[in-house]
Amino acid sequence: MEQQIDCIDAGTEYCPCYLAEIGECLMCSQLQGHVFCDCKNWKGVCIYQEYVWNRYQMKEGRKNLICKVVNKKTISDSVMILNIAVNNTLLRELNQPGAYVFLRHPEDPWYYDTPMSVVRVNEEEGTIEIAIQIKGVKTKSVLKVDNEIYLRGPYWNGLLGLKYLKMLRNEKALIIARGIGQASAAPVARKLILAGNEVEVILDGGRIGVNFTEDYLRELGCKVTLKTVLDLKKLEIPDDTLNYISQVIKEKDIKLVYSGGADKIHEGITRLLKQINNDIYFTCSNDAKICCGEGICGSCQTRLEDGRRVKTCKTQLDPLHIFGGK
Ligand code: FES
Repeated sequence: MEQQIDCIDAGTEYCPCYLAEIGECLMCSQLQGHVFCDCKNWKGVCIYQEYVWNRYQMKEGRKNLICKVVNKKTISDSVMILNIAVNNTLLRELNQPGAYVFLRHPEDPWYYDTPMSVVRVNEEEGTIEIAIQIKGVKTKSVLKVDNEIYLRGPYWNGLLGLKYLKMLRNEKALIIARGIGQASAAPVARKLILAGNEVEVILDGGRIGVNFTEDYLRELGCKVTLKTVLDLKKLEIPDDTLNYISQVIKEKDIKLVYSGGADKIHEGITRLLKQINNDIYFTCSNDAKICCGEGICGSCQTRLEDGRRVKTCKTQLDPLHIFGGK
């Protein structure tokens, strides 16, 4: 069955975007240059009509804002936590799973923009918390920020299979997170708990060597187990962890599994879920190489099982269709 393309920005204040102006809208056939309406995935808003009402041009894009760094804490050799003050609109827009922003040192040029998941939002203080793994040129530069930082956002496609997460209520869910992948797992756990779900978490510090979300997850009410999730020699989930995951899924009647970490973990879990052959929903972090975040540069492109190429910074996909095809 052909997978429907679903744009994360469709129907938001940022739609229509640059892609509409150049005839590359992900969803609207008329804004792809066709003369008929072939809307397969109605989001409650006609993108073409929005484009016409906006005088045949895109809506205003996301801006770069200079924001105050309220707190900066180094929690291991390679991980830093930043608390950044943002306006109320951004606070609300970023308070959901999959939300991320682009950050850069104020003295750096635009091509230093680096995407970072929002770990949590503190509405009382008016801040967002970001965990940064210091790895390459861009993150080493962010490490040097003092009082202010450039921030561009909000972006929302930091995880795939979002619709499953949004619809799960009063069920049981399992989260598997490794390394910096814990950053995207924390808002997932919060969302699941708020919807009345029981959540079990398997955490692995991975290369960063620290489980920086463990206390927060326990505070939320999750049951946390520490286990190795990726064997770095074989680049696979170790057998004993696979057995444990399988046992938890069967015994607890898990309805949704979330994987936060590298693609190899997503692939291992996809294989396991196919073996179990159950109707379990699968969502995972979007670990594509996100560069512009706007569907322009193509660095995040992947192929679906049917061979179509899609830009994963904008497109919501079913993870089983991507990782099941590898
Ligand atoms: S990150 Fe540039 S197209 Fe997706």
